[in-house]
Amino acid sequence: MADALVTDTSAPVMPAGFATEEPSLFAPLYPLPRLQLVNGKGARVTDVNGREYLDFVSGIAVNAHGHAPAGLAETIAAQAAKLVHTSNLYTNENGVELARELTRASGYDRVFFCNSGTEGMDAAIKFARARAGALGMKGRDIVAFTGGFHGRTGFALSATHTPAYRAPFEPLIPGVRFAPYNDLGALTDAITQDVCAIVVEPVQGESGAVSATREFLQALRARATALGAALIFDEVQTGMGRTGTLLAQEQFGVKADLTVLSKALGAGMPIGAVLMSAEVAQCLSPGMHGCTFGGSPLATAAARWSLAQVTAPGFLARVNEAAAVLAAGAEAIAAKHPKSVREARGMGLLRALDLSADADFQPADLLAEAREQGLLLVRGGERAVRLLPPLNVTNEDISEALARLDAALTVLETRANDKGEGL
Ligand SMILES: Cc1ncc(COP(=O)(O)O)c(C=O)c1O
Repeated sequence: MADALVTDTSAPVMPAGFATEEPSLFAPLYPLPRLQLVNGKGARVTDVNGREYLDFVSGIAVNAHGHAPAGLAETIAAQAAKLVHTSNLYTNENGVELARELTRASGYDRVFFCNSGTEGMDAAIKFARARAGALGMKGRDIVAFTGGFHGRTGFALSATHTPAYRAPFEPLIPGVRFAPYNDLGALTDAITQDVCAIVVEPVQGESGAVSATREFLQALRARATALGAALIFDEVQTGMGRTGTLLAQEQFGVKADLTVLSKALGAGMPIGAVLMSAEVAQCLSPGMHGCTFGGSPLATAAARWSLAQVTAPGFLARVNEAAAVLAAGAEAIAAKHPKSVREARGMGLLRALDLSADADFQPADLLAEAREQGLLLVRGGERAVRLLPPLNVTNEDISEALARLDAALTVLETRANDKGEGL
């Protein structure tokens, strides 16, 4: 019997560093098994076998300051030794100071803390509906956009366009409709008197770094103002410096009524924040919404640390410098591999390569080959592969990552050519 097991070749071959026992332990909601990471420093992580990778995923745009940045562990440990959690029945110094620092830095008036991007988006959409009620608006409809991703919980999922994420859970929350992203001509018909909120990402992250045009966001602002509807910016992925400014909206010359942050806000500690105008806040009242863990002393300690880094003199200038290096390198790669890469795009350090329809391989193949070359990447949209380095990435790490990406594309193209010639 034992011999039969040993000689059984039907079992899938597990790439080195992957957690073999995952499929028998976890609900099958992610592609399992996954690479098991044990350690990190800066833009580099090490797997369970001791292999090092350049990490251009950054925990999906969470680890803005890289792995194990100086000062973060000390900040978290010092706070954990005092208070970790108190609940929303009480407040704490970090929560109050983070609210002060965030409102000051962003220009918004009030803040609500939660734990994640989807919770923040659910809260923002609820607040917009509550505002509509408080102001006596007739409509409660929400307009969101094709390609948009806002999270996996009720309201956030209802405003998320991807059919595969929605279909298993329908019927979703009623009153949400979709308009085409970046289509100025469609706005008047889509955003009518019955709309109380418009929900949009300034740059669509999960769709693969697809940026709104300035005209589009400005038209959304104008339409929302004309109808009295609330404009909600989902800056869960774009916020906290990822695009080169604290909030991406600064570069479009548009301010929303509500803006949601999460991901990089806590530098890896789970936290979300809904920033809002005083006008929105005055439509809310005690008991209407809440969050047990929201604004905990520990999460807000980490977020204060993260915000202090992003707002420190020179930090965003360096993000923009790194972004220019990464953008130029990604464009050079696209030019070198025209059959495989349709476009290099993005804003700041939220960038992607969009694979062409006639590439000889799929995005998943590029991810796997890049990993073989020692570079971790993450997909976006149908055919894009995102590049999300930490915001403090060095030019040397960018060069090395680009060389590995180039090598991965070359391997895949050579393999396809060899197969073609063998036919
Ligand atoms: C723009 C955007 N909004 C919302 C979310 C949901 O965030 P979370 O996974 O923390 O719930 C994400 C996650 O990728 C996102 O990119």
